[in-house]
Amino acid sequence: MSILVTGGAGFIGGNFVLDWLAHSDEPVINLDKLTYAGNLLTLQPLAGDARHHFVHGDIADGELLRRLLQQHRPRAVLNFAAESHVDRSIHGPDDFIATNIVGSYRLLETVRDYWQQLPPAEQAAFRLLQVSTDEVYGSLTPDAPAFSEQHRYQPSSPYAASKAAADQLTHAWHHTYGLPVLTSHCSNNYGPYQFPEKLIPLVLHNALADRPLPLYGDGQQVRDWLYVADHCAALRCVLAHGRPGEHYNVGGNCQLSNLEVVHTLCALLDELRPGAAPYARLIRFVADRPGHDRRYAIDAGKLQRELGWQPAESFASGIRKTVQWYLANADWVQSVTSGSYLDWTRRQYGAH
Ligand code: NAD
Ligand code: TYD
Repeated sequence: MSILVTGGAGFIGGNFVLDWLAHSDEPVINLDKLTYAGNLLTLQPLAGDARHHFVHGDIADGELLRRLLQQHRPRAVLNFAAESHVDRSIHGPDDFIATNIVGSYRLLETVRDYWQQLPPAEQAAFRLLQVSTDEVYGSLTPDAPAFSEQHRYQPSSPYAASKAAADQLTHAWHHTYGLPVLTSHCSNNYGPYQFPEKLIPLVLHNALADRPLPLYGDGQQVRDWLYVADHCAALRCVLAHGRPGEHYNVGGNCQLSNLEVVHTLCALLDELRPGAAPYARLIRFVADRPGHDRRYAIDAGKLQRELGWQPAESFASGIRKTVQWYLANADWVQSVTSGSYLDWTRRQYGAH
């Protein structure tokens, strides 16, 4: 038996593959296009490990998918592959439509074809897990209850809209064809191997280079943070015990403003890598993101009640591990922040 993971050279997919093979000997076929966000260095700990089979390719390539499914006959497919950065989706939505919508559609169709030809027992056991996001639900007012799985879809950014479209297709393939799908909606993740275009690694990267720490607007937008290993554990749990057709919210019950997050990072750096002056002096309020969602908050009660999942890390323990990891892995950061990364930061933040 094996599983097929897409996007397994990215932040969460990479953590998931490492985590999976730390918990199980079931082989992983890892299909990744290696966009700017995919990095084989993340998978370096698996070099020479016969349980990991990496394939460089696109989820929109139906012929390649067909071959992989026929050759490896996985019992499950987990779709992490996506364009995932909201700011990039605002500058150029094309790749988001191509991968998140068309790619997900192609994956659904190819998997459906494969699944329909499986013997009945394998058909019944098969699962497709669509890794979605809380951003499909849109933005919350300050006092509104956290998102439940019943919250209506109201995506605001091109990124969120493209993920919502993929979710709707996934739902339709379950409803119409009976494909046994599961959908997870996780809040903001942080942890090792996150590309430094997202808030937490960007702030760490800039602080260590003595560059400004940009906060959009007033810095009072709220996100609900979860350590990536807890997300990986939730996905293993949903895959093993989730009911086909169901959606599961995943979150750490940890709502913080962006300003609070950045101050926490500065304080940890002051402790672990003290500089001449406190890092918080580098904080700058910059132009807000267009259409910026004000608040996300996840109610993960269903996953806890029905499947028994609980996050293992608090924000205090997870963010400390994360800062320690970035300090100890400067070579990984260096390898992903050359070349096209510099073009992106110049475009988004101007020359520093
Ligand atoms: P990421 O941008 O770090 O990684 C995405 C990976 O997908 C990269 O390795 C990239 O090379 C690959 N990829 C992109 N297009 C592809 C294609 N057409 N075919 C094959 N591979 C392709 O993203 P991430 O933060 O690891 O997010 C993974 C998934 O989790 C995404 O679907 C995202 O929507 C979802 N998610 C992310 C968060 C978060 O906080 N990062 C929270 C909830 C859900
Ligand atoms: P991000 O990590 O891009 O995740 P998402 O937009 O998917 O929530 O951003 C997290 C929050 O941090 C979001 O409210 C935008 C804000 N942010 C900044 O204030 N400055 C930055 O430079 C970045 C990248 C994000």
